[in-house]
Amino acid sequence: MAVIGMVGVGGYGATILRAAHEAKNVRLAVVYDVDPERARAAAGKTRAKVAASYEEMLRDDSLQGVILVVPNPLHRRMLEAAVDAGKHVYVEKPIANSVKDGMAMRRYAAAAGRILMVGHNTRRAQTFRTVKHMIDRGELGTVVAMEANFSHAGGLGVSPDAWRYRRETCPAVPLMQLGVHCVDTMNYFAGAPVRVSSFMSSRIMEQNDDVTVTLVEYENGVLATLHSHYVVAGTNFVAAYGSEANVYAEWERLDKTTREPHGVVSTPFPRNDTQLEEISEFAACIESGVQPETDATAGILALAVVDAAIISHKEQRIVSLEEILQD
Ligand SMILES: NC(=O)c1ccc[n+]([C@@H]2O[C@H](COP(=O)([O-])OP(=O)(O)OC[C@H]3O[C@@H](n4cnc5c(N)ncnc54)[C@H](O)[C@@H]3O)[C@@H](O)[C@H]2O)c1
Repeated sequence: MAVIGMVGVGGYGATILRAAHEAKNVRLAVVYDVDPERARAAAGKTRAKVAASYEEMLRDDSLQGVILVVPNPLHRRMLEAAVDAGKHVYVEKPIANSVKDGMAMRRYAAAAGRILMVGHNTRRAQTFRTVKHMIDRGELGTVVAMEANFSHAGGLGVSPDAWRYRRETCPAVPLMQLGVHCVDTMNYFAGAPVRVSSFMSSRIMEQNDDVTVTLVEYENGVLATLHSHYVVAGTNFVAAYGSEANVYAEWERLDKTTREPHGVVSTPFPRNDTQLEEISEFAACIESGVQPETDATAGILALAVVDAAIISHKEQRIVSLEEILQD
């Protein structure tokens, strides 16, 4: 049983809080949020104590790990404080707002022998796990291309004081917040991304890009397109195209289209609890010392495509990931 503290219990933190409360190998001992009402409500649901500050939480010697579900600009600073206090860390995706910060976080945790897990939960959906098995078993033949889109209309209602609103605190918001999930899933399918090209535009949001279209080339030759927009109706899928078959996967549905004989089989999948799985894995890693599946390197590789897309759009050029992955 790993003893864990959690920071940031509003927003998506409410979902992770529920997972940490339900995970059989976790004892959620302390919660903290800069908003004390949220922290009190979370404590009420879980019987965890409320810490008066992050520093107070980190002084608790019984805590082995900390879960951070806080705005991206805080990830690096809070990870470093947790590692200084000897804690293992689970941080939500993206690992940080820049690869430079992500690499600094990886170095910091590794130097202290602490686990750093990044919350890339999408690849854990049963449909995407199934696509991965199909690719590995050769069911698609030679995979030549992928296509993904994770978009929603979050940008239409976002308050100007929210950290997501501005480029300074959340650059290329749809890609940083949504598309990065697809990148991690495509990396899981195809391996290392090597070159990126992207167009972005600011169509409705005033202080951030809200429409992004990105091309990614993988080391194994697979070419991928990724749409991610913040001002449109919601959609979330990854598709892979191969010489024998194509697959189109959402969280709860997988379509397989075979070439010969040509036909489509659509299979519904119940939604699995990816958050419970990842928090349970974090606790198991603390206890065993084994590195998590979505470790700092996975987080950096997903974020690298976002960073490269931002540079590509700004400088109107194809960006090699070698350029930004120099540690
Ligand atoms: N895996 C996913 O599907 C998923 C989904 C949504 C968000 N996220 C990630 O979760 C993180 C948080 O996003 P969100 O949507 O919950 O943001 P949010 O702004 O809705 O909530 C952030 C929470 O952190 C608290 N907080 C802010 N500053 C703090 C501080 N200094 N100390 C302690 N608490 C503080 C806030 O009060 C709030 O409760 C981000 O990194 C985001 O990318 C992941």
